[in-house]
Amino acid sequence: MALDFEIHRTLHPTPEDERAEILRDPAFGQVFTDHMVRITWTQDSGWTEAQVVPYGDFSISPAASVLHYGQAIFEGLKAYRLPDGSIATFRPEQNARRFQNSARRMDMPELPEEDFLEALRVLVDVDQDWVPAAGGEAALYLRPVMFATEPTLGVHASKSYSMFVIASPSGAYFTGGVKPVSVWICQDYVRAAPGGTGAAKFAGNYAASLKAQTQAAEKGCDQVVWLDAIDRTYIEEMGGMNLMFVYGSAAESNVKVVTPALSGSLLPGVTRDSLLQVAEDLGFETAEERITVEQWRDDVAQGKMTEALACGTAAVLTPVGRVLSEDGEFEVNGNEAGTITMQLREALTAIQHGEADDPHGWRYVLVPAKN
Ligand code: COI
Repeated sequence: MALDFEIHRTLHPTPEDERAEILRDPAFGQVFTDHMVRITWTQDSGWTEAQVVPYGDFSISPAASVLHYGQAIFEGLKAYRLPDGSIATFRPEQNARRFQNSARRMDMPELPEEDFLEALRVLVDVDQDWVPAAGGEAALYLRPVMFATEPTLGVHASKSYSMFVIASPSGAYFTGGVKPVSVWICQDYVRAAPGGTGAAKFAGNYAASLKAQTQAAEKGCDQVVWLDAIDRTYIEEMGGMNLMFVYGSAAESNVKVVTPALSGSLLPGVTRDSLLQVAEDLGFETAEERITVEQWRDDVAQGKMTEALACGTAAVLTPVGRVLSEDGEFEVNGNEAGTITMQLREALTAIQHGEADDPHGWRYVLVPAKN
């Protein structure tokens, strides 16, 4: 049976002028709305105690197994205010299913899709004033999380879990507009191996990436690019984003958008999947293939590969302009945002923000327009 959410509104909502000030120019993931969703799972009762409560700290046992053995997964999606005043999110059933896949991989209980969707709906309904105005880039970033709460030092799947959703009005993930980012090809560490947890949105994948991210920053780069664990040759992803490569040009009508094939160790991004479809809708050829670093460098040098980009919910779509590694560095498209990248970005964001038709039924209304 579907969960019925109890709503407990805060007695101290953020004053309107303070909220308006935050919404004028939100950073990424710095400020949180007035409420959050909480749901509990226990072995005896399954999913229970679904509620919207005031945003705030919660207490957990120091023995909670998440703190010791790291059983935690999350999702990321955005709610957009559309020009007609309604609030919609984008392909949330994909996030619901990926949350279930991640849960299965980590031996955690699966939250039914309808409860995942309802959790988003009730939270955004209560906090609808926190969704940034239509017409801009900003949106309300939604972060569903599940973690193990059983107080035990035994190494086994927890017998209880807490699921919550928080919301954060968020602008661009990368500051400075649509400016190409620089990437560091990581050869010292691996993010995920076949049979590991790379295809799950598992918190530990992100923890394991931080050292390399720091190394990338020390090399003057914005992000790290991960290679496959076996050959250390094939490009996988950027940790928080997938990668795409553009071959050919619009002038020659031979554009091909290529992304690393899902190897089992890279995350199947919703933005990645959507962009492959948008590229086809724009008349471009698409392919999911294995690509080596050498091929990236050589294809750029030979003028075959014209653009590269990173994509994800938080980052949306960002050009990759400089590629650095122990072997040297090269630029893609003269370190400028490419025309195909911008065309893909505009086509996708226009659907997300309700400024274009939605031929694939990707928008999902959370709060209808008021008449
Ligand atoms: C997202 O794009 O939503 C992500 O999950 C990346 C993130 C870790 C910032």
